[in-house]
Amino acid sequence: MRILSGIQPSGKLHIGNYFGMMRPALELAQRGEAFYFIADYHSLTSVSDPNELRANVLDVALDFLACGLDPAKTVFYRQSDVPQVAELAWILACVTPVPMLENAVSYKDKLAAGLKPSVGLFTYPVLQAADILIVQGERVPVGKDQKQHIEMTRDIAGAFNRQFGEVFVIPEPVIREEVATLPGTDGRKMSKSYGNTIEIFGDEKATKKKVMGIVTDSQPVEAPKQNLDQNIPLQLLKLVAAEKAREIEAKLAAGGYGYGDAKKELLAALLDYFAPYRQKREELAKNRDYIEQVLRDGAARANAVVDVTIKKVRQAVGLR
Ligand code: TRP
Repeated sequence: MRILSGIQPSGKLHIGNYFGMMRPALELAQRGEAFYFIADYHSLTSVSDPNELRANVLDVALDFLACGLDPAKTVFYRQSDVPQVAELAWILACVTPVPMLENAVSYKDKLAAGLKPSVGLFTYPVLQAADILIVQGERVPVGKDQKQHIEMTRDIAGAFNRQFGEVFVIPEPVIREEVATLPGTDGRKMSKSYGNTIEIFGDEKATKKKVMGIVTDSQPVEAPKQNLDQNIPLQLLKLVAAEKAREIEAKLAAGGYGYGDAKKELLAALLDYFAPYRQKREELAKNRDYIEQVLRDGAARANAVVDVTIKKVRQAVGLR
């Protein structure tokens, strides 16, 4: 089974990304031949500072390697090291109807969020389809928000196959419904755009500030706490220390135990849970050459697969 997913290099890894995207992707990678890439071409639709883009790419690479991606097993590469994908995107654009792209929710959302309405932003889903199809990915692990993009990929692949013959495997999304709604510090979905994230590799002081600032209700310390299933510190604690979470839940329910103490327990548990990853990341960050080498090696392995597909595509459409 060939698994493929792309990660936009867009800032600091937070626990919502980790439990929602990274951990399931790393688990799934154990069950097949995984291709995970850093979507730097896609980032050009939102990042205009070249240094920021380079720094973000390095950050994602470090994050994934620190959190356990095994580059000997998973083909881990930078999208722009496989420029054939841009050629395929052009060819796919020629079988993609404009109205389909006009219906993309992500496009409308991004415009509403203030992104520039570039042609690149508009055709973003076509490039994404090219990413998947060029590797002949069969399973695509993504968050719920990417569902429509994968449907478009399937439609584009179908349109191509009908017009030019069966070249592409039709991919299946693997959607993680349950974890997509990890709450942020304000109770809304944890997301960079809401500014309610808790970063994994942030310094301790910043993490403490975020955790102590988590929104809770205002039941007094003495009160036996009600509605604990809505309690954000407890929900997050369950992810990183299930047993501790049960203990703290019992204390809160009994009364005489405040949310401040629960947050301190959460902070300790978070730091503890991610400590080995933090240490690994610090070591990796000192060795840029190694990171570059991993990405170059990944690109070479991806290129071998991609060249086969692009050759078939060129032949199918008559570009030779
Ligand atoms: N659009 C995806 C996101 O924002 C990133 C992405 C780019 C991707 N190409 C992909 C995901 C191919 C899966 C497959 O999260």
